[in-house]
Amino acid sequence: VKVLSISNQKGGVGKTTTAINLAYGLAAAGRRILLVDMDPQSSLTMAVGADPQHGSIADVLGGSKTGRLTMGDIIMPLAERLDLAPAALDLAGCELELTQRLGRESVLKKAFSMIVENYDLVILDSGPSLGLLVINAIVAADAIIIPVIPDALGLRGLALFLQSLETIRAELNPGLVIMGCVVCQFDKRTTLHKAALERLKEEKIPVLAVVKKSVAAARAVGFGKPITSGELRDQYAVLTAEVEKWQKTIWAE
Ligand SMILES: Nc1ncnc2c1ncn2[C@@H]1O[C@H](COP(=O)(O)OP(=O)(O)O)[C@@H](O)[C@H]1O
Ligand SMILES: [Mg+2]
Repeated sequence: VKVLSISNQKGGVGKTTTAINLAYGLAAAGRRILLVDMDPQSSLTMAVGADPQHGSIADVLGGSKTGRLTMGDIIMPLAERLDLAPAALDLAGCELELTQRLGRESVLKKAFSMIVENYDLVILDSGPSLGLLVINAIVAADAIIIPVIPDALGLRGLALFLQSLETIRAELNPGLVIMGCVVCQFDKRTTLHKAALERLKEEKIPVLAVVKKSVAAARAVGFGKPITSGELRDQYAVLTAEVEKWQKTIWAE
């Protein structure tokens, strides 16, 4: 199974929104998708309105010792061809305890070995940090997409993240494909955004898609409903197509 991580150590850039919309988009297009919430704040789990009663990703990862559950135990159905491995607050404690674990950077990668046959793609949503959970996501991933907001802070954050990513890749996952970034919350009336987008296009990583600032996205938050209104789904169609393209090159290999 191929694994795609949606990561950036900056918060509020659109990681969770991107993970959700990609997952629903690809599932609607016929792919079997597993969404994995790797954020201790469980924003993804809450955003899709899931209530993890049979354990969460922390129970699979474990801490200083091996987890008590497997991926299969915690997976919940969300929609046709779309499942979720939910997170809960105990993921923060798990991250702290993992520091004492042998092989701590590849715990998540190992957890996927059981579910190979069931999905076409696993999509990981990361929290806003560069801690062990994000490192686990990067190590488990075949490819990564980085959501960015097109302003000065966003570009600076991206540059910093790319530096760290290179280090992690060199040490732990040389085969990782950095697919590119997705510009989130783009506001074409803001000159700053236009300038930042131009600068981004000169960077060494591709801009895969530009998602406009959408009222629907902001409205959906806090109501426990997946942020997959027509408006935002259409905005994410270009990114979904890019991921399909990447998958096809892999299947052709
Ligand atoms: N295209 C968009 N237009 C408007 N608001 C957006 C858009 N994408 C995300 N948001 C909002 O921005 C906030 C941060 O997005 P989120 O996906 O949670 O970021 P992250 O996971 O990186 O912290 C959320 O309130 C979300 O609803
Ligand atoms: Mg998030």
